[in-house]
Amino acid sequence: MLEGLLPSDVRARFGDPRAEMARLLPEEERLVASAVAKRRHEFSHGRALARALLAEFGVPEAPLLSGPQREPLWPSGLVGSVTHTDGLCVVAVAESERYAGIGVDVEPDAPLEDALAARICLPEERVRLAAQDFCEPAVATRLVFSAKEAVYKCQFYLTRRFLWFPDVEIWLEPAGDFRVRILAEVTELGDGARFVGRWARRGGFLLTAVWLARDAG
Ligand SMILES: CC(C)(COP(=O)(O)OP(=O)(O)OC[C@H]1O[C@@H](n2cnc3c(N)ncnc32)[C@H](O)[C@@H]1OP(=O)(O)O)[C@@H](O)C(=O)NCCC(=O)NCCS
Repeated sequence: MLEGLLPSDVRARFGDPRAEMARLLPEEERLVASAVAKRRHEFSHGRALARALLAEFGVPEAPLLSGPQREPLWPSGLVGSVTHTDGLCVVAVAESERYAGIGVDVEPDAPLEDALAARICLPEERVRLAAQDFCEPAVATRLVFSAKEAVYKCQFYLTRRFLWFPDVEIWLEPAGDFRVRILAEVTELGDGARFVGRWARRGGFLLTAVWLARDAG
């Protein structure tokens, strides 16, 4: 499911959040105590995958809590990202010495409604999406939506900034890459050229991943 989506020094795992509730630590449990069952399931699977990945990096078991903007509070020295949709949860973790940020996002492989497309895509993105021939335009539009959410998660640890959809421009490439341009003035990010993005369409899902490598200049 995740092959080729992320660099080899980024560790990633996936699971099905519809499966039985995964184990939560008491402090994590408190974060979703009043949430609906679907949210509790997806949260528990995200946390279980994340803790398994953190263990691979030698981190002793500890609760993975969330910050005020809902961002996971990764242990010092690591950076990561969590995403879930009906039937799929993905988590990626890497060393913060190598990566300033990582973002992952998953969506169902389905067209995005036209009314939403107008809010998510810039006019020039819509022109490109209509002209490309590697994906149905409305599905490619959902890929752009997913890529922008992944970019938002990736940049957050550097900037702590909220970005709107028109603040980010995405170019999908047929071979599974995407390019990113940040249109908002975010000094920490420049024009976004350092983001590297990949997308995939697999098993009924659209997957996007983006990262900011420390050695990319
Ligand atoms: C976070 C967001 C991008 C995606 O959330 P979602 O639709 O619930 O979908 P996902 O399941 O893919 O992602 C949720 C996970 O993102 C992570 N996340 C949430 N806010 C985050 C932030 N500020 N920074 C980094 N990661 C974040 C969390 O791990 C969360 O899962 P958890 O609560 O179980 O830990 C969206 O809800 C949001 O806040 N959007 C506003 C910003 C935005 O989209 N701007 C436009 C794009 S530039």
